[in-house]
Amino acid sequence: MSNGEEISCTTAIEKASASLTRFPLIPVRGIPLMSCIAENWDNIWAFRPDPSDLLIATYPKAGTTWTQEIVDLLLHNGDAEACKRAPTPIRSPFLEIKFPPPMSSGLDLLTKMDPPRIIKTHLPFQLVPTGFWENKCKTIYVARNAKDNLVSYYHFDCMNLTQPEPGPWEGYIHKFMRGELAWGSWYDHVKGFWEERKKRNILYLFYEDMKENPRHEVERIMRYLDLSLSDEVIRNIVELTSFKKMKENPMANYSFIPAPVFDPSISPFMRKGEVGDWENHFTPEQSKMFDEDYEKQMKGSNMPFRSKI
Ligand code: A3P
Repeated sequence: MSNGEEISCTTAIEKASASLTRFPLIPVRGIPLMSCIAENWDNIWAFRPDPSDLLIATYPKAGTTWTQEIVDLLLHNGDAEACKRAPTPIRSPFLEIKFPPPMSSGLDLLTKMDPPRIIKTHLPFQLVPTGFWENKCKTIYVARNAKDNLVSYYHFDCMNLTQPEPGPWEGYIHKFMRGELAWGSWYDHVKGFWEERKKRNILYLFYEDMKENPRHEVERIMRYLDLSLSDEVIRNIVELTSFKKMKENPMANYSFIPAPVFDPSISPFMRKGEVGDWENHFTPEQSKMFDEDYEKQMKGSNMPFRSKI
């Protein structure tokens, strides 16, 4: 997308912002989804990907944008300029999102693009349109430890006018634990894709591993995509997808979404990008209560989450 198209995208959001609201949640097969998504559910469920399409699936705030940027750069041999052709959600549409016109929905954008496309979703495994599995589409899932994921989601819900009102922090922790936030239970989400990862050839990544050794994880993604790039290109991709570089990149930092839809004075989209920030938010009592509940909800799953590195 040219600069002109980016401006028109921003203008569309500005025009639509009068009708943008904190969308209430409506359950779809038991999963709370924003009403704008739930009301379009039949069209989303009917989506048929091409076998060459790639799906990037995450629970919200687990590192989706980071992974989208890595994948786009890998597919463009590390060409930074090519990956500045448009903001992230235009380069890599968000399957289920649908805001009021004149904003394009994820499905509108996908229809206008030729495969192979990089498609983002936050849908839990059981709500991903079955065509992805029937067509054996490659899928990258990124999971982030529950406490940091929750902290990030809280800040996002504060600054994003379209998400449900987060309410006070203490109550928000309970909503997260009960699976009442948009896209449902974090626990079921991460476990759902984990259980399917071998059967569906899903590349399952952890945010903490990406932070600890980004080069290693970028190379894993590269191999999964059947690519073989030079050392120098890989090094460059790691650099371009560092938190600092992406925060400064207007095509990756969501700054094209005008306030008040995303209000950066409350919290920037690219907020901290760290592992362990939860320690600055949870009181010792909240942490204990959360951990006890976590043990019950994750019992038997054996997933290698790390809330510190
Ligand atoms: P924080 O709120 O903890 O800073 P998503 O893209 O799924 O919405 O996730 C957003 C979270 O990923 C935010 O976390 C954001 O700062 C972080 N993030 C985005 N790009 C990153 C990068 N290159 N490195 C580390 N974290 C990144």
